[in-house]
Amino acid sequence: MDTILIRGGASLKGTIPISGAKNATLPALAATLLTSEKVHLSNIPHLADVTTMLELLGQQGAALTVDEKLGVEIDNRGVNNFCAPYDLVSTMRASILVMGPMLARYGQAEISMPGGCAIGSRPVNLHIQGLRAMGADISLGDGYIRAKAKRLKGAKIYLEPVTVTGTENLLMAATLADGVTILENAAREPEVVDLANMLISMGAKIQGAGSSTITVEGVEELHGTDHDIIPDRIETATFIIAAAITGGDVLLTNTQSEYLAVPIENFRQVGVDISLEGEGSMRVRGNGGLKAIDLQTSPYPGFPTDIQAQMLVLNSVSEGISTVTETIFENRFMHVSELQRLGADIKIQGNSVRVRGVDKLIGAPVMATDLRASASLVLAGLAAQGETLISRVYHLDRGYERIEEKLLALGADIKRLSE
Ligand code: EPZ
Repeated sequence: MDTILIRGGASLKGTIPISGAKNATLPALAATLLTSEKVHLSNIPHLADVTTMLELLGQQGAALTVDEKLGVEIDNRGVNNFCAPYDLVSTMRASILVMGPMLARYGQAEISMPGGCAIGSRPVNLHIQGLRAMGADISLGDGYIRAKAKRLKGAKIYLEPVTVTGTENLLMAATLADGVTILENAAREPEVVDLANMLISMGAKIQGAGSSTITVEGVEELHGTDHDIIPDRIETATFIIAAAITGGDVLLTNTQSEYLAVPIENFRQVGVDISLEGEGSMRVRGNGGLKAIDLQTSPYPGFPTDIQAQMLVLNSVSEGISTVTETIFENRFMHVSELQRLGADIKIQGNSVRVRGVDKLIGAPVMATDLRASASLVLAGLAAQGETLISRVYHLDRGYERIEEKLLALGADIKRLSE
């Protein structure tokens, strides 16, 4: 298994292009199952999770052509297998996103129950309840969800708690259902809006994406499209923090600040200098004098849970005492004990952590436990004195495209050691 070795202390300087959003790419790939016409997706990130989803589509009979322009063409005319097997679903729970489209277009789906993961039990009851409300006959047994439906019918569905992939699964299913579906308390994430925009370009009739109530009028069929994936707001936030904590001066391009309004406001409160430089670019400077702030995670447009681990690093090297509360997942503090090994002064108190800023972090060997936790260890390594060796970096590769190459280009002393 690969490890990443970082010698901290370099101030990051230069320009970095942000990649396409992983959490927009995965539902977009699943949505291609809704049509027998060709779909072209561009600006997709080359990540392990994207490869897994492409593998899943391939296993179902899709013909995939990846082009050098970060694009992929999917032709689903040959799809004749409606199973998402355990070996794929267990590596990537977002595989459950093929269930809605498969049921809507083919009337059947057999999906391995996605297990829990490091950050929580990750139930899928809302996905199942929603599809049952749309008339699907769903049974659970020997680790699989088996679903059948002659044709789904429109339904009014209330989602509690807010669920991103639950909203996406039901949104996709509703596009071909007979009648009108109303999703209430729907997720408002930009990735949900991007999926809705793609579906509309395929002929779907959707209103309200980005608000808490999405209305879908089912149609008979959807046609192909050419869709450009939105930039990754979580990668953007990760690089903002990297520039801030290394006293750097970094220009991030091919990104969108509008998807990060609340986090950018929070980063500015800490003292990070962020200036929006025209179309899709932002300049981030770390001028020191950082002051830690209290915050809590919440569904969009609030502070994203996917930036919580990275935020703990920013607070750890900022002045003062702060409290960060995680409201989405029940076990998303696996990175805390690793950050403590690097000298961070963090204490877990229930679903909150209390952080006391320290003058410096000290490099040490640490272990990645989940995707965003591994990003926080990279950030801490960049700011720490001495060497940090991060193991189990396969977690990192699931969600960050070539992160060590991008950081190297900014002057970081970082390298991947392949065992
Ligand atoms: C999506 O996961 C993201 N993944 C996650 O990003 C992100 O952390 C999460 O949304 C929250 O923003 C993708 O988009 C592929 P949820 P998802 O359903 O959809 C509960 C990353 O690092 N819930 O919004 O699986 C659940 O337990 C990943 O890129 C139910 O109770 O998350 C949680 O407490 C990590 N029943 C809350 O809802 C359900 O049926 C939010 O989960 C579904 C969810």
